[in-house]
This record gives sequence, C-alpha cells and structure tokens, in this order.
Amino acid sequence: MSKNAEDLVALIRGKAGAEPVKLGLILGSGLGHLADTVDGVAIPYTDLPGFPHAGVSGHNPNLVVGMLEGVRVAVFGGRAHYYEQGNSAAMRLPLEVLKGLGGDTVIATNAAGSMRMDMPTGSIMSLSDHINFSGLNPLIGEPSDARFVPMKDAYDPDLRARLRAAAEATGTEMYDGVYAWYSGPSFETPAEIRAIHMLGADAVGMSTVPEVILARFLGLRAAAISTITNMAAGMSDEAISHEHTKAMAPIGAGKLEKVLRATLRGLASTK
Ligand code: HPA
Repeated sequence: MSKNAEDLVALIRGKAGAEPVKLGLILGSGLGHLADTVDGVAIPYTDLPGFPHAGVSGHNPNLVVGMLEGVRVAVFGGRAHYYEQGNSAAMRLPLEVLKGLGGDTVIATNAAGSMRMDMPTGSIMSLSDHINFSGLNPLIGEPSDARFVPMKDAYDPDLRARLRAAAEATGTEMYDGVYAWYSGPSFETPAEIRAIHMLGADAVGMSTVPEVILARFLGLRAAAISTITNMAAGMSDEAISHEHTKAMAPIGAGKLEKVLRATLRGLASTK
C-alpha cells in the first residue's frame, strides 16, 4: 500500500472507527443519494489528501463509512473519470484505501447508454464483462509483475449471482450485458455506437472499466451495475446530454438501490 493510502486509512479510522469495512460502493451520476442513507460518518474528499476532486456535477464527493443493510461499507459518493485530468488511474488511491480499511469487495455503479432496443432508458444492467474500447489502462507505469492482471471473470461470478438473486427476490427487472468504456467527455458518434455494438457491447459509458481493472489488480472482488439513462447515439431521437443523464438516472436508480440493498442484506446474513 502506498504511504498516501496508509496515512488516509489511519485518518479515516480516526474519524469513522477502526472496525474493518467489508465492501466498497462507487456511486455513479445521479446515484449519490444512497450515500446519505448510510449510518456512519461522511468525510468530504477535500479532507482526504490525494483523493480526486470529483468535479462532475451530479456526483456527491464524500466518502461515507458506516453501516448499510447490516454491512460495514465505504461509499464513494463521487468518482474521478479519465476524461477529467487524463488520468485513468485516478481511482487507484480510493481503491487502495478501501483495501486498507479491510474491504475485499467493490461494487461500481454508473450511468450508461443502451445499444439494445430491448433494454430501454430506466433499465438496470449487471455487467457480465467489459470491452476496453478506450485502449487506455490504469496500470500503465505500474512496475511490478502484478500488473499482468487476468481479466477472465473480472465481474465476480459469485457476486453477480448475488446481484441476480437480489433482483429476483425484490421483483426487479435487471439485464445482463457487456459494457464498453469510451473515454469521453464527448459522447459517441452514431458510427462509433454501431461499431461498438458490432463488437459485442450492450451498453456504453465513460467509467467503471479502469476501476474494475484496478480492483482486480488489488485483489478485490468486483461487480458493477449500469443504470440506462438513454439509448446510445443514433439509436433513438432522444437528445443525449449530461443534463439528460442526470434527469434520467433516478428512474433506474430506484431499481438499483433495491438490488444493492437486498445484495447487502444477503451478504450480511452469509458472512
Ligand atoms: N455514452 C457514454 N456515457 C454515457 C451515456 C452514453 O450514451 N449515457 C450515460 N453515460
């Protein structure tokens, strides 16, 4: 663990208590509200030296450590994206801190565009796999052999099964699909969407993939869920914009919250 991460772990334990955290949750656009429901301590990113200044509107840049549905969690209310500073490893420090706090699991959430006509705006999708369409990698420059991270089953089968069971138990429709990472911040062109779809992706977004690569590098179990905020470029007459993403995120966010809460309850009961 880096010295920076060690110092942050000590600082966070001082504020939120030393009891180990089990799971980290990274909240995407329009999903920040879940952080407010954690019974614990909220620490603004600005009080955590080295934490990214998650400057994207619609995010909630606090780390909240506490209990959610019987599980001790660290909720990252905002994430840093590659497109902010050109740093695809921007979430490395937060993930190192999660591990340092005792976490062994991370669930990332995001807003995404759908490339499947049968997966409309307002749907949620559990990631079965991803395509790193950006070609960027957060481990470039990492000197250790640990950089050669296997990415088969990067989205942990047991965790995905738990998400699926939680969706079923709560009567929530949840799709499974492949997410493609596009660097952003501009949205994709219709030609790019046609290309990405042909390559096998079901949804497209500007995050999550670097975090899952880093999570696997750190030995954390990972899963991710998208909320579909729009049909991808050229697939409908819907105008795509960040405003639209923020306006539409709450539709899927309700479903996402149900599934996450039920998944946590399941984890709490099978520790
Ligand atoms: N493309 C990329 N990122 C997104 C989209 C999209 O259509 N919707 C929400 N985030």
